[in-house]
Amino acid sequence: MTETILKLTNLSKGFGGVQVIDDCSFDVPRGARMALIGPNGAGKTTIFNLMSGVYTPDTGRVIFDGEDITDIPSRMRVRRGMARSFQNIRLMPHLSVVENIMLGQHAQVGSPLDMVTPLLKRSRWRREAEALLADMDMESYPGEVVATLPYGVRKKIEVVRALASRPKMLMLDEPAAGLNPSETAALRDFLVQISETGVTILIVEHDMSLVRSLCDRAVVLNFGRLIYDGSTKEVQHDPQVLEAYLGSRHAEAKGEVHA
Ligand SMILES: Nc1ncnc2c1ncn2[C@@H]1O[C@H](COP(=O)(O)OP(=O)(O)O)[C@@H](O)[C@H]1O
Ligand SMILES: [Mg+2]
Repeated sequence: MTETILKLTNLSKGFGGVQVIDDCSFDVPRGARMALIGPNGAGKTTIFNLMSGVYTPDTGRVIFDGEDITDIPSRMRVRRGMARSFQNIRLMPHLSVVENIMLGQHAQVGSPLDMVTPLLKRSRWRREAEALLADMDMESYPGEVVATLPYGVRKKIEVVRALASRPKMLMLDEPAAGLNPSETAALRDFLVQISETGVTILIVEHDMSLVRSLCDRAVVLNFGRLIYDGSTKEVQHDPQVLEAYLGSRHAEAKGEVHA
């Protein structure tokens, strides 16, 4: 087992002549809780899309758990142990919690036996989904329809759904967006609990107090370039980081930057 679970080397990606990711390299140590931060439009979600196989990079490699996965499809990456949640909730609102978790197990489909015994399999999946909810102290929710639950609970369910594929690494894109301070604190404790089971966490997040209390290391992107890789304690004092955020706020005030 290598100590680095994810290695990005010289990643670049352009869309229609615009260089959105520009020669980015960084490592995520196995078992870490690490943050990927930067102003709106910096390229954070694009990096997640390159890591998870939504996009193919123009240059550079994605090495996961010692294997070059740059050219393999998303579902194969899920099987190798990579899972993500999305910036906007993608739960099925009219299904129950347990059914939503079962959808997250689709990555485990694949043996011929699954096709022969779909019903048996489904009940096993249900039991596994219920067990996962219980592990996460959410056993009171399985039968509830997602649409009826508070936003903070839905966010946690989205994280649990990503865990249903039994990932080694979990990527979360702005999981605390729209949460109030007590929901954010609950999410933080929940992520620490997940991390203590050995899952590596890479989080994109704007809430810096959450980032500091959850992660000890951060990388910062600005205009697709990596401008910082170090401690979350010092990140807010780094001159380049300050300039990136101040610059974006200045532009935002003038209406030039859109979320
Ligand atoms: N599929 C795409 N086609 C064209 N431009 C894109 C595409 N995906 C992202 N971009 C652009 O890349 C830049 C970075 O976007 P994104 O990665 O979503 O930033 P962040 O998540 O840091 O806010 C933005 O200018 C965005 O418009
Ligand atoms: Mg984004």
